[in-house]
Amino acid sequence: MAHIFCTALPAAPLQSGWNGDPEGWPQTAMLRWRVGADAGGEIWAPEHRRSYGGVAMATILERYVELHPASQQLHGRARRVFPDGVTHDMRYVQPFPIAVERAAGSRKWDIDGHEIVDFVMGHGALLLGHAHPAVTEAVAAQLARGTHYGASHELEVRWGELVQRVVPSVEHLRFTSSGTEATMMALRLARAHTGREKVLRLRDHFHGWNDSVTGQPPAEETLPRSPGLPHGILDASIVVPQNDIAALDRTMRESGGEIAAMIFEATGLHWGTEPIAVTYVRRARELTREHGVVLIFDEVITGFRVAAGGAQAAYGITPDMTTMAKIVAGGLPGGCVGGQARIVDRIAMRQDASERIAHPGTFNANPLSAAAGSACLAVIENGVPQQQASATARTLAQRLNAVFREEGVAGAVYGQASMLHIALGLREQPDDGYGWGWHAMPQRPPAVPGRAASALRRGMLNEGVDLMASGMMVSAVHTEADVDRTEEALRRTLRAMRAERLIDNGVA
Ligand SMILES: Cc1ncc(COP(=O)(O)O)c(C=O)c1O
Repeated sequence: MAHIFCTALPAAPLQSGWNGDPEGWPQTAMLRWRVGADAGGEIWAPEHRRSYGGVAMATILERYVELHPASQQLHGRARRVFPDGVTHDMRYVQPFPIAVERAAGSRKWDIDGHEIVDFVMGHGALLLGHAHPAVTEAVAAQLARGTHYGASHELEVRWGELVQRVVPSVEHLRFTSSGTEATMMALRLARAHTGREKVLRLRDHFHGWNDSVTGQPPAEETLPRSPGLPHGILDASIVVPQNDIAALDRTMRESGGEIAAMIFEATGLHWGTEPIAVTYVRRARELTREHGVVLIFDEVITGFRVAAGGAQAAYGITPDMTTMAKIVAGGLPGGCVGGQARIVDRIAMRQDASERIAHPGTFNANPLSAAAGSACLAVIENGVPQQQASATARTLAQRLNAVFREEGVAGAVYGQASMLHIALGLREQPDDGYGWGWHAMPQRPPAVPGRAASALRRGMLNEGVDLMASGMMVSAVHTEADVDRTEEALRRTLRAMRAERLIDNGVA
């Protein structure tokens, strides 16, 4: 049976007073599990198991359940409140997600007491890590002065000036409460500016959940991803495959005069799961200019991360508009839409009210987000935290790629800047062990069966590492020790997956 591969046992399930009885280990809610160097030298080694008469090893799923009784219990309550018991699609983990009670730096602690190396990092919002002192001090100081004035304030101006300074293509901007609001407003501004309706998007690129960017026309062979959309919205969408310059040329030739905006994730679909080629971005810039189409870089994830000035600074290509969120608000809710003043100023009051775009929003530029955002941008505008995060990501990718090779499992880790992706089954690793830079990858990552993807996520959690789906958002405060732990976690997870026949030297 596959599950006798004892090497997949936990790095160190520690329980004070544990008497060595394997049956006694799983049930207790008092279990405190630490991994790696902090494990205190006590390893539940294969010998322990063998000496208990060949008791079958727990599967990844069984261990996950055993390790997280408090999270499971809380999930029971959550299911009575929220669909699936979660408040964000990405937090949906079968059979239940972990619940976290505190976080600091690169780590977070769940309610079962596990210390976890965090690569979700606030869904990418925390380039400076959890509870960075500059941010928490600014927020605490602002809390004492009030959380909402319902009025203009100095901090919002400072925040806006920082965005302008760090992202030079932003002449004017408006703050929003999220990235979804930012892309919605960017597209509305582009439609108003051009008097055209259609939006050109790239297949599978993600821009939040507003109607304009949610579904894909059936012609794209991927059914509209969301019921509940008005048909007109999809009629107003043109979706083309990323990196296909011929398709882009043709679309612009045939429909350029009807297209208000072209929007895409600045480094490729799903934050570079498949990198966009800079040659494609350059061509998009030329064609949009030629056809009077507003070019929007969605830098909700890449903004302030790829470089202080975002992917546009790294490419040296200037969009007409940019959408931002996450890092811009320093880990609090917030987003921003900015770009050419002549477009953004459609929001400005004017004589003919029918000519302007309204922009209310109770929490726009609220003082707490303004405090967090301006404190964060002040720390990162010199580009040093981005370089630190990217350097750690490079080392991490190289070490994890070596694990795949050493374990004889097909798979690759690759990325750009501080965003990494784990592709099970991908047979080609990047030459430098890190990525393909601003070029398309040589082959698309193979589709991974859901059970293997889930096992990877759960298996890494069992080993004390939280992935962002199958990726990693590396921060400026992840350490060498985090890299060590993650390397060991992947090794153990791959062995456990192999023991369950979820992978062989590909993906089963
Ligand atoms: C590229 C991109 N655009 C837009 C959004 C939506 O941002 P928000 O979740 O703040 O609404 C996201 C969220 O992850 C994103 O990754």
